Amino acid sequence: MSDNAKLEIKGNTYELPVITGTEGETAIDITTLRAKSGVITIDNGFMNTGSCKSAITFLDGEKGILRYRGYPIEQLAESSNFVETSYLLFNGELPTKAEHDAFYSKISSFSSLPSGVKNILNQFPATAHPMGVLSATISALSGFYPEYLTAEATEEIKNKSIAQLMAQVKIIMANFYRKTIGKDPVDSNPALGYSKDFLNMMFDKEIDDEVAHALDTLLILHADHEQNCSTSTVRVVGSSHANVFASISGGVDALWGQLHGGANQAVLEMLDEIKNDGGDYKKFINKAKDKDDSFRLMGFGHRVYKNFDPRAKIIKKACDVVLEKLNVQDPLLAIARGLEEEALKDEYFVQRNLYPNVDFYSGIIYKALGIPTNMFTAMFVLGRLPGWLSQWKELREDTTGKIARPRQIYVGENERNYKKISDR
Ligand code: ACO
Repeated sequence: MSDNAKLEIKGNTYELPVITGTEGETAIDITTLRAKSGVITIDNGFMNTGSCKSAITFLDGEKGILRYRGYPIEQLAESSNFVETSYLLFNGELPTKAEHDAFYSKISSFSSLPSGVKNILNQFPATAHPMGVLSATISALSGFYPEYLTAEATEEIKNKSIAQLMAQVKIIMANFYRKTIGKDPVDSNPALGYSKDFLNMMFDKEIDDEVAHALDTLLILHADHEQNCSTSTVRVVGSSHANVFASISGGVDALWGQLHGGANQAVLEMLDEIKNDGGDYKKFINKAKDKDDSFRLMGFGHRVYKNFDPRAKIIKKACDVVLEKLNVQDPLLAIARGLEEEALKDEYFVQRNLYPNVDFYSGIIYKALGIPTNMFTAMFVLGRLPGWLSQWKELREDTTGKIARPRQIYVGENERNYKKISDR
């Protein structure tokens, strides 16, 4: 049997290579189709388009499988830590103890911000959305580290970029939060460990080990998710050989939207709205089902998970630990549980394979930790950074990589002659 696919267009047959991945995923390589036939493919929202070959994350949405570099997310969430998982994503293998410590030392060496970046941060009004602040300050970092502006992504640049961004993004986030509550920033103390250091910079108080561990788990769950909207944006920007700060800043912007990372903020706002409306979640389920109503159940549904989101299962458990440890009785949790239970047995959601996604419970944990609602999506950034940087590195190391430049089917006016304004 031929490994090629045959495509018949208007009586002509074209042979196209078929590519198979290590998990048996199959794709028709259409790269040469236009040159051979003059025809392009069109795929709204890239529902059926592979944009690259990648060895970082494997995801099977039907079976609810998520693996980083071959390791199941359940095992990493149970036994790894965020720094180790970041090393794994970026380098392809789990680190030895010495490699882990050297990596964390490198992250720790960026435990402050250039004073110019601090000045930029101080210029934002306290009401600014943290995602806009993050996007702007990450892009601004390029102004303070000119060595990154080279077209080449050297080993040194790649290794420095992950350590620097993992350290400085968490400082930017915590410093900006302190400003919004009228308090001075707290210095980074990497000796506390990655997640505890972040919480300490935010709240300036002793942080419980289990609580820091729960945050670390959440960051692991968010660390990569193959070619989603923001990761694809990082790759598209990076494909022009723009610097790494520009690429990551683009990822932040793409993540901001409600249909993507912004869903965690939207979930909390939705749960609040249901509570303030008297707590009748069934009414909101009906709104979500009503095609004349634009309301959607935030935190439900996913482009690729059509069975369940394995991250949502783990988060639900972490949520219980944090709420118990912090002794939080959150009425929103009861609403979330009721909403989930009701939706999971509702014909509309069952038929469309709509299940809670990673964002459904993460907001409740962030809220319990004292993180303000408008910072939830920025928390997602903190988790996703190693994934974006690993994808950016893979892109820059692919010697066959091309600038991302899709085509289109033009549906506008045909050629017509310009008329002077006096003749119109
Ligand atoms: N509430 C109600 N109906 C929904 C929902 C929802 N949350 N999600 C999908 N649907 C319905 C759609 O109306 C559509 O119905 P139809 O077939 O009768 O027209 C069907 O389910 C398929 O939905 P699409 O929008 O075509 O699915 P797509 O894969 O394009 O969208 C998305 C996925 C954007 C995540 C969508 O499910 C959604 O808007 N969810 C809410 C926002 C959200 O939680 N986003 C976070 C995703 S996770 C992440 O990015 C980290």
